[in-house]
Amino acid sequence: MAGVLDDPFLHSANQQVEAARADRSKKPTIAGFFDEATNTISYVVHDPATCEAAIIDSVLDYDAAAGRTSFVSAERIIEYVEARGLTVVWLMETHAHADHLSAAPYLQEKLGGKLAIGREITQVQNVFGKLFNAGSEFERDGSQFDHLFDDGDRFALGGIDAIALHVPGHTPADMAFIIGDAAFVGDTLFMPDFGTARADFPGGDAAQLYRSIKRLLTLPRETRIFLCHDYKAPGRDDYAWETNVGQQRDLNVHVKDGISEKEFVAMRTARDKNLAMPTLILPSVQVNIRGGRLPDPDDNGVSYIRIPVNAV
Ligand SMILES: [Fe+2]
Repeated sequence: MAGVLDDPFLHSANQQVEAARADRSKKPTIAGFFDEATNTISYVVHDPATCEAAIIDSVLDYDAAAGRTSFVSAERIIEYVEARGLTVVWLMETHAHADHLSAAPYLQEKLGGKLAIGREITQVQNVFGKLFNAGSEFERDGSQFDHLFDDGDRFALGGIDAIALHVPGHTPADMAFIIGDAAFVGDTLFMPDFGTARADFPGGDAAQLYRSIKRLLTLPRETRIFLCHDYKAPGRDDYAWETNVGQQRDLNVHVKDGISEKEFVAMRTARDKNLAMPTLILPSVQVNIRGGRLPDPDDNGVSYIRIPVNAV
């Protein structure tokens, strides 16, 4: 660990983390919605004083064999939001997910709010636009989203200060959203007994992931951390998705204090070589780089999801 915080990349990056430390006292109310089909946790976060809410990483149910979408997961969120009279101001994606489709456009239609993702989504759009041989009608400028977050952007959820941090590594566009005392870290960290996200997708980088995680772990130890996925872990029978900075620093099997960048990169690279591609990567990515919208329909009115053969 010695020297990590003196790194020039981290030095400027840490000015943003300093800002993120500024007012961490307010506690948003948080509900996690676990999708067992994709091991994803979606969140509704709100300010109890004003009832302003953000929905993070929603799931559109997708039956790959039938090519059919459904809205059971999205409807659970809608029911929760409506029962509490919340006003949705943000629909946020921590990144372009490779394991589930986003329900953000559906939720936006029903509940309102601005659809947001990290600025570097344009890199992901470029790479996958080529892979899917998307035509010129597929814009690679992030314009499918209402807002693109840059590193260090401050925003508010009602009366609660929030900040967006760019945490690349799993993909080039990953963001973490820190809202009051809670950090939504997307695919960076998993539970301490499971470790970290993979870094072998196009544009992924294990060293970058390590540095991004170290930035997050300079937040105060009591900062609550909410994960995007859980897969249980050897010896643990229940799903879990909330932890905190202190637990991660003391216990994370991949990145606890004392594990060097070099050790991490060696472990992550070896492990990623043995991981299969997520089942829904090809459908997910081509929908999620369009802000969660299906590709434009053909002249028969049907949308098609393309599978590039022998190209990945
Ligand atoms: Fe992911």
